[in-house]
Amino acid sequence: MNLEEIKMRRPLIAGNWKMNGLTADGRALAAAVAERAKAGDPGCDVLVCPPFTLIGAVGAALTGSPVALGAQDCHAAVSGAHTGDVSAEMLKDAGCAFVIVGHSERRADHGEDDATVKAKAEAALRAGLTVIVCVGETEAERDAGKTEAVVARQVKGSLPAGATPANLVVAYEPVWAIGTGRTPTPADAQAVHARIRAELKGLIGGAADAVRLLYGGSVKPSNAKELMGQPDIDGALVGGAALKAEDFWGIVGSYA
Ligand code: PGA
Repeated sequence: MNLEEIKMRRPLIAGNWKMNGLTADGRALAAAVAERAKAGDPGCDVLVCPPFTLIGAVGAALTGSPVALGAQDCHAAVSGAHTGDVSAEMLKDAGCAFVIVGHSERRADHGEDDATVKAKAEAALRAGLTVIVCVGETEAERDAGKTEAVVARQVKGSLPAGATPANLVVAYEPVWAIGTGRTPTPADAQAVHARIRAELKGLIGGAADAVRLLYGGSVKPSNAKELMGQPDIDGALVGGAALKAEDFWGIVGSYA
């Protein structure tokens, strides 16, 4: 990877709010993030992904700011008899530019396998959204030395047809690091990111050098800079720390 290719990847800091917040909370958090973003270019793209119920209110609060809006999941179909689900087209219509698919909590709680994640990712591209495809090993898989094999399999099985650096982001989130306060060492995280990029290269060729790879799992202001400083880590997917504007912005500040 040369310097020009690195520069092609504008970092992305994405907040995954998960199942948190009522309207007033979401509005206040989005407004606080938007206000900080309007103060000047933070050196990276910024995204918030609220729960479905807050997409309208958060979208309104972000108006006029460079902060992008995303969702946390979508169904693979355009519309139809899928009670409780939301399509990628509906998200686009509601103002989203991004959608996360294949988060480990979806994979575990809803039994989503790579084929399901791939179908959802393809729905996202069909609707004109940028998709964030999540991958990551469990602690048992890591202990068994299978991290890179598991992650490579997930990337291969979940990658949507038609993926380009403009419409695809991959998030590496070790399951054991999510919400636990534990993280891999920056060097260990970098090694997995490099493996993901190598896998992507086999699938989409040289364009893989321009695809943004995010690290996720217990990212905080205190550990973000070192993680974000790794050559193949192009930003973060942030859960818990995305629920406080100050902490979230502290992570964004890694790129200041
Ligand atoms: P965390 O969650 O930052 O709370 O560990 C990250 C995620 O699950 O996206």
